[in-house]
Amino acid sequence: MLEVNSLTRQYGSKRAVDRATFTVAQPTMIGVIGRSGAGKSTLLRMLNRLTDATDGSVTVNGRNVTRLTGAARREWQSRCAMIFQQFNLVPRLDVVSNVLHGTLNRRSTLATMFNLYPQSDIHRAIEILDRLGIAEQAPKRTEALSGGQQQRVAIARALMQDPEIILADEPIASLDPMNAQVVMQALRRIHEEDGRMVIANLHTLDTARRYCDRVIGMRDGRIVFDGTPAQLTTGIAREIYGAGADFSEAATSTEIETLDREMEAVRVSDALV
Ligand SMILES: Nc1ncnc2c1ncn2[C@@H]1O[C@H](COP(=O)(O)OP(=O)(O)OP(=O)(O)O)[C@@H](O)[C@H]1O
Ligand SMILES: [Mg+2]
Repeated sequence: MLEVNSLTRQYGSKRAVDRATFTVAQPTMIGVIGRSGAGKSTLLRMLNRLTDATDGSVTVNGRNVTRLTGAARREWQSRCAMIFQQFNLVPRLDVVSNVLHGTLNRRSTLATMFNLYPQSDIHRAIEILDRLGIAEQAPKRTEALSGGQQQRVAIARALMQDPEIILADEPIASLDPMNAQVVMQALRRIHEEDGRMVIANLHTLDTARRYCDRVIGMRDGRIVFDGTPAQLTTGIAREIYGAGADFSEAATSTEIETLDREMEAVRVSDALV
């Protein structure tokens, strides 16, 4: 159903994503891993057309979505909802209104201006919040909620679009371990119960292993691994992250990056002595 072929994004002389190629035949929960700057966000953003590809294609059920414009592009974007690390909600607005924003694509300008929503949409929003265990938060201001609750509001907003694919860019990177677990479990349930495809950039390998059926590893813009968590040995993980022997599966991509810079600084100072 999803075919990504030689997808490339060039920024000046740098290839953020370099000929990424993979196929997803059925709804799968996929984790994308790799160190900071590997190209994970750029890949996800090209899938839903927030970023335009320089080259290559994304084909969904036989239809190339890479060059869609205007209404067709917006229609595609509503079919592959995106969730972000920083939630991207309107903090001062109540929870249910934030969720109802998920229907913006199909509402008239006038209805939007006056904040008019059909009763059926409001019912659906509450149902979705209930499913995510936060229905009682519906009337509250969104900024009054915990990070984990806010991310569930963002997931509810995405579900309001009834998307085939949910793209999540580091959905748990700002959350404490307890909330991170709740959010990952919510994404997993949505995948299993609704049969939606989920593609999540994850900043730790152990999260990808625990929740995903398939893991894609990126390094320097390229896909260097594509397989099951079982196939992802510690040796391969080390290659993906370009990390040393002290590599830990629970380390975040940013930690690995920092560690590496510190090691480089040590090597440079050793060379100077
Ligand atoms: N708008 C842009 N302009 C120029 N360079 C960019 C832009 N967006 C991304 N890049 C570069 O492309 C590369 C890949 O960036 P990307 O954000 O996709 O990585 P990432 O794997 O998501 O990293 P992180 O784990 O830090 O989020 C990086 O070198 C980055 O600096
Ligand atoms: Mg990123």
